[in-house]
Amino acid sequence: MKCRSVQKLGLLASLGVGAAVATPDGVVQLAIQRRNVADSRPILPRASSSPVLEQLQNDRSEGAYMAEVKVGTPPQTLTLQLDTGSSDTWVVSSGAEICEQGQCDHGSFDRSQSNSYTVLAKDAFSTQYADKTSAQGDYFNDVFSIGSVTLQNLTMGIGLETDIPFGLVGVGYPSNEAGVAEGTIDAYPNLPLQLVKEGFTNTVAFSMWLNDLDASAGNILFGGIDTAKFEGPLTRVKLYPTHRQSAVDEFAVALTSVTAVSKSGSDKLGSASFPAPVILDSGTTVSFLPEDLVAEIYREANVITDDSGTGAVPCSYANAQGYFSFGFGGPGGAVVNVSMSELVLGVAGTITGGSHKGQDACTFGIQAVSSNDTFILGDTFLRSAFVVYDLVNNEAALAQTKFNVSDSNVIAFASLSATVPSSTPAPSQDAISQGVVTATPASYAAAAAFTASSGAAGPLGPGGGVAGVALATLVSFGVGVFSFFVL
Ligand SMILES: *[C@@H]1O[C@H](CO)[C@@H](O)[C@H](O)[C@H]1NC(C)=O
Ligand SMILES: *[C@@H]1O[C@H](CO)[C@@H](O)[C@H](O)[C@H]1NC(C)=O
Ligand SMILES: *[C@@H]1O[C@H](CO)[C@@H](O)[C@H](O)[C@H]1NC(C)=O
Ligand SMILES: *[C@@H]1O[C@H](CO)[C@@H](O)[C@H](O)[C@H]1NC(C)=O
Repeated sequence: MKCRSVQKLGLLASLGVGAAVATPDGVVQLAIQRRNVADSRPILPRASSSPVLEQLQNDRSEGAYMAEVKVGTPPQTLTLQLDTGSSDTWVVSSGAEICEQGQCDHGSFDRSQSNSYTVLAKDAFSTQYADKTSAQGDYFNDVFSIGSVTLQNLTMGIGLETDIPFGLVGVGYPSNEAGVAEGTIDAYPNLPLQLVKEGFTNTVAFSMWLNDLDASAGNILFGGIDTAKFEGPLTRVKLYPTHRQSAVDEFAVALTSVTAVSKSGSDKLGSASFPAPVILDSGTTVSFLPEDLVAEIYREANVITDDSGTGAVPCSYANAQGYFSFGFGGPGGAVVNVSMSELVLGVAGTITGGSHKGQDACTFGIQAVSSNDTFILGDTFLRSAFVVYDLVNNEAALAQTKFNVSDSNVIAFASLSATVPSSTPAPSQDAISQGVVTATPASYAAAAAFTASSGAAGPLGPGGGVAGVALATLVSFGVGVFSFFVL
């Protein structure tokens, strides 16, 4: 599934790019940033040999993490969305209609201006994302620079016809490449694999640190981890096939518990879908979880819904002290705590009733989908996690992120097929079986203080203790709500 999802909240911002830092051999680091106004231009010093770091920009207007790359000879600079939910790197052709209309602010690619451009498969690139946007064109090979390294021969798509004004860097499994699904091309070495083939990294693995909702920068590190960017144990869990009898081709892990925690108590929440297969997808802005679980989450956090069931909260809840603790891979497995400040997104409308009437409503970072749909942990979860994706051993390693750290302690994977450095496996994950309800109905002990301001001493500080407004039609959404469709 390709789940690039766009949340338009009407926030205008322009582009900024951060710098790559030198890292040890076998790692390539790329800075990724949320887009902010008037940032300086990139400085990407050449690292002595391997590590690839790329900084990612967190683009609030598109709800996306963006990475700057260079394509062709001489190099053309483009900013692309980083996506763990798809597997092709593709660029928008400067000849595409959307660019000729002047909408390609993130840069577009003029193939006639690259003397190293070679067509690999004409008309073979065709992709459609979960939000129904699409791109069609050719597969080609060219020089590609990311972070501090330059690949001589990366296969990419070019969007000749597309309604998306920027390309993507898809870092998923090659078996999930668009041309493979379409049957127009055999699986080719995409970016994480080509970095190994050209000797920059030791194995097909990368880690992502997206940082705080309010921060502008995160990064992706190919071939290594950064132990300064997380706290507590880094725990490995298995990736599961999302289609019966198929190989692993997405980043799906087993969500086995969710606990609501506040000063007034702690509640283990339940879902008939536990252990729930959830896809870790940086290309999706919010998180989509089973409706029975989300109903409990909404009651704990006092989330209100509109007619369509979309959840929102008073924007002041960004200061609430409660948090949700997500557990993966069974008892003793990976744990990531997500605080309310990470779950309250941009202003989406106005509250039309109840005790918060007239206040701004902000989209809530967790939305419900039916138990038959695909569950996704998107950016609203991923920012709180340091996640390592290991495509050789089919494992993900998760830890609690450290926000806003500038320190760095990068460790490379030792070899192809080495497991994630400094990690331990979830001890009881082999006992996970499908379809077990793991919790009795919640007692909602955490709810009383969940939305109390984190700055307040007591459980019913300013902004807290709002009861009984969780009724439909209390929210009217002015500007666009996210769009999301499962393919
Ligand atoms: C570049 O890669 C393509 C496909 O992966 C391959 O067919 C081609 O021979 C390669 N070119 C060079 C110069 O290595
Ligand atoms: C991280 O930095 C941003 C921007 O300076 C700030 O708004 C945010 O509160 C910081 N987050 C934490 C957890 O300190
Ligand atoms: C996450 O929350 C759990 C439950 O409250 C707590 O035991 C754990 O220490 C927290 N983890 C971190 C890293 O703060
Ligand atoms: C989920 O799928 C099952 C089996 O296909 C079907 O019976 C059920 O109605 C579906 N439920 C929803 C909510 O779509």
